[in-house]
This record gives sequence, structure tokens and C-alpha cells, in this order.
Amino acid sequence: MNVFITGGAGFIGSNLAENLLAAGHHVQVLDNLSTGRKENLDTILSHPGFQFHLGTVTDATLVEPLVAWADHVYHLAAPVGVKYIMDNPVLTILDNVRGMDVVIAAVHKHNKRMLVASTSEVYGRSLDLLDPTGQRKLKEDDYRVEGTTTNHRWAYANTKSMDEFLALAYWKQYGTRSVIVRFFNTVGPRQLSLYGMVIPNFVKAALSGEDLVIFGDGTQKRSFLHVNDALRAITGLMGSDAALGQVFNVGNPFEITIRELAERVIALTGSTSGIRCISYEEAYGKGFEDMNRRTADISKLRNALGFELGYDLDALLTDIIAYHRQAV
Ligand SMILES: NC(=O)c1ccc[n+]([C@@H]2O[C@H](COP(=O)([O-])OP(=O)(O)OC[C@H]3O[C@@H](n4cnc5c(N)ncnc54)[C@H](O)[C@@H]3O)[C@@H](O)[C@H]2O)c1
Repeated sequence: MNVFITGGAGFIGSNLAENLLAAGHHVQVLDNLSTGRKENLDTILSHPGFQFHLGTVTDATLVEPLVAWADHVYHLAAPVGVKYIMDNPVLTILDNVRGMDVVIAAVHKHNKRMLVASTSEVYGRSLDLLDPTGQRKLKEDDYRVEGTTTNHRWAYANTKSMDEFLALAYWKQYGTRSVIVRFFNTVGPRQLSLYGMVIPNFVKAALSGEDLVIFGDGTQKRSFLHVNDALRAITGLMGSDAALGQVFNVGNPFEITIRELAERVIALTGSTSGIRCISYEEAYGKGFEDMNRRTADISKLRNALGFELGYDLDALLTDIIAYHRQAV
């Protein structure tokens, strides 16, 4: 099978490309290397079934021939990481919206099948504000609570929501085949610490004996999915006719506070590092707001694919620590 991956030099995309090539597929990647890296493709660059193209997903002249060649299109290209998004407000909006417009138009024109990478950010603060129990997990058809437009953080979530609306509109109006996945925090080897991702930041700090820096007070809860589990989910959904025109959470329902996460990283690395909290304002500037909880209900994914998690928290942290130990 021929597979086109936008954003394929990134963390999830490069792991996906490697897996698909190993399974005997042909893969072409388009990436502008904004947050992705050519080094992520080192293991596959000379593979006869692989081709890399440097360029932006907003350029239809680059995208269209690649979609025409492909059987399956994974649209993963997007500005990523809270820090990168806060630093690049205009590009965040334009690349998400224009990129999706270009890719889905080509998928529609050539009658191909596509997977759209959305995000748990589209739920916004709904668990904080609509769940008095503090126990509920997010379901795909839940109400979404996004913040004000003067807070740029919400632009990423809203443009990803617009991508979802567009994919569903194409499906409804033309039968254009796509499935939407809302990734919750996905982690693993190759994820960079540069753009505000918590686990690589904690692991790097622990390995170099520096303080692990928590944004906020550390009571906020998150859940983390290993990239290998994420890849099983998305390749499974791509192959499922029943999943077309639908939205799926792809995450780990187990949640942990950020402080507990920092303590676990210190324990597993055997580090002597301390833990230090800084305010969100210090980290991201004035007016930034975050959600207290963001945890996935994955019963829809389990029912669709018989999906089960392969990594618990310690297994995924151990894998990431091993990767960073090798990299230093
Ligand atoms: N990793 C996560 O926890 C997570 C969570 C929610 C959603 N997602 C989504 O999953 C997808 C992949 O994320 P990732 O974690 O691999 O991040 P990443 O930053 O490693 O990958 C994104 C890739 O897209 C590329 N890119 C950005 N803009 C582009 C453009 N205009 N044209 C071509 N390429 C472009 C980047 O260079 C990068 O290689 C993204 O759409 C992201 O929004 C990821």
C-alpha cells in the first residue's frame, strides 16, 4: 500500500513511517521541519520504499501529487506544543486551517482515505467546569468549553475543531472518507523537550541533575499514551470502514498529577534532582490558562478495535528514559 504522511518528520509521524515501512508499505512524507527533524528519519531515509519532501502542507502543488499517489493519507502536520503555539500565533491558525483545506480537497478529488490528527485540546476546560465529581473522563460527544479569543492558547484547539468540522462536512456532503482521532498526550522516543512537552523536559532535567520545573502547582492531572499504542490505534482506525466519518479519543484513561509524574521520573532515573514550581505566567506569559484535568474515555476505541493498552506509566517512562540516556 502507498501511504502519504504529512508532518512525517515529527515525533508521531516518523514513528508511524518506520512502522509502515517495516510492514512492507511504501511511504512518502511532506514536512516543513518547523518542529520536526530530518534526524527523526535517519533509520529510514535510505529505505527504497521511502521518500522525503521538504515543504509546507499549505502548498497544493506539493500536496496534490502525493495524495494522488497514496492509498492512505495521515494528516499529522500542524504547529505543535504549547510553547511553540504561544510563540507563533498567526502561523498556528493559518497552517492548521489552510493545511487541512488543501489536504482534504485533494483527498476528495482523488477519492482517497484520510486520518485527521485532532487533539484533546478541543475539549478545552469541560472537565474542570462541567464535572463536579472530578472523576469523569472525556467522551467524544461531550460538550466542549473553550476560553476567550483574547487568550491565544485556545486558537490551537479551535482550529483543530475546525479541521474536524471540515472533515465531517466533507464526509456528510460528498462521502469523502476520513476518520478523526483526538490524541491525548502521546509520548515516546523522539519527542522533543523544546516546545513545552512535559515528559521529555522532566526526563532531561532528571538525567542532568537539574530541577524538574512544574508549571502551576503540580496538582493538575494528565494521562500519557505511549506512541506505539497510539500507532496501533491509528493504523487500526485507518483500516476500519466502520470508523469512517467518526471521531475517536486516542489516549490513556489512567491519570496522574504532574507532581506525581515528576516524582516518578526522579525515582525511575535514580536522580538527585529537586522539583520546583513556576507560575504559568512565568512559563507562557500573562493570561495563560490551563485545564486541571484532561483524561480520555477510550471505550469507543476499545469497542471499535478491541484496543488494549500495551504500556503502563512505568513502562513508558522507562522507554523514554532509555532513549534520552542514549541521546546524551
Ligand atoms: N504528541 C501529542 O501529544 C499530540 C497531542 C494532540 C495532538 N497531536 C497532533 O498529532 C500530530 C503530530 O504531532 P507530534 O506530536 O508528532 O508533533 P511534531 O511537532 O513532532 O510533528 C508535527 C510535524 O508537522 C510538521 N509541520 C508543521 N507545520 C507544517 C506545515 N505547514 N507543513 C508541513 N509540515 C508541517 C512539523 O515540522 C513536525 O514534523 C499533530 O497534528 C498534533 O496536533 C499530538
